Amino acid sequence: MPQKNNKQDNSRPIGIFDSGIGGLTVANAINKVLPHETLVYFGDTAHLPYGDKSPDSIKYYALRISQFLLKQNCKMIVIACNTASSLAYETVKEFVGKAVPVINVIDPVVQHVIRNKKIKHVGVIGTKGTIKSDIYHKKIKAASGRIEVSSLATPLLAPMIEEGFFDNKISRSIISSYLDSRKLSKIDSIILACTHYPLIRKEVEEYYKGSVNIIDTAGVVADHVRETLEKLKLSAVKKNKKPLHHFYVSDFTPSFEQSTKYFFSSKIHLEKMDFWS
Ligand code: DGL
Repeated sequence: MPQKNNKQDNSRPIGIFDSGIGGLTVANAINKVLPHETLVYFGDTAHLPYGDKSPDSIKYYALRISQFLLKQNCKMIVIACNTASSLAYETVKEFVGKAVPVINVIDPVVQHVIRNKKIKHVGVIGTKGTIKSDIYHKKIKAASGRIEVSSLATPLLAPMIEEGFFDNKISRSIISSYLDSRKLSKIDSIILACTHYPLIRKEVEEYYKGSVNIIDTAGVVADHVRETLEKLKLSAVKKNKKPLHHFYVSDFTPSFEQSTKYFFSSKIHLEKMDFWS
């Protein structure tokens, strides 16, 4: 088990990981809220998509990636993937112990939902892994009996977005056919429970035409990261120099690099890091 690094150096990076480049939406939101923090991002593109992998595989990938992020001297680990947050958060937390705080993308969103008194019936869309785990339903119900939760697996959406395939006639038709589901017919709010989905927020908004409140999960998670760093006195000191981020992927293709421009607001360079073989 990793030991707590007693020499607290707040300039250490924040480690963030996802199955691919979708988690860059969370990295981008963190970068906006905390522009002085250095980020180390790992996208496990060799194992993408996580949504239809077994829980054991996801736990194994998440552990190895966390190990890598600790070796990069990260002061915090953010699991920027709903599937890995659903299936591997407890495993990662147990492994990391007291070494660094571990943040998942589900708990901050659950807190955000239960604090909003206007929400009576919330919809959840995500990968098969996230929806099958039933984690949003369980956590929201455990925290507040007054909110109804209806979940729907939308497995075509993450690969479609990862390919840069959205905001067109076909993507709109796929999104509408999912949102037309009777399961979601009574909701007043919807959680986009996959870190790829901020990219289709506009299309979801167009579908609902203001009748359903869309929950911006990346922004909620970024605020939670800021609050946690402040609480633990781990925030980086403001400097004039821009921090030097690193973006690693386990399998590099030009199409991944090309797609990053949709997920992160400034141009980024992907570095290949294959520790699987
Ligand atoms: N971005 C991941 C999530 O939030 C899902 C994509 C995948 O299936 O790998 O669930």
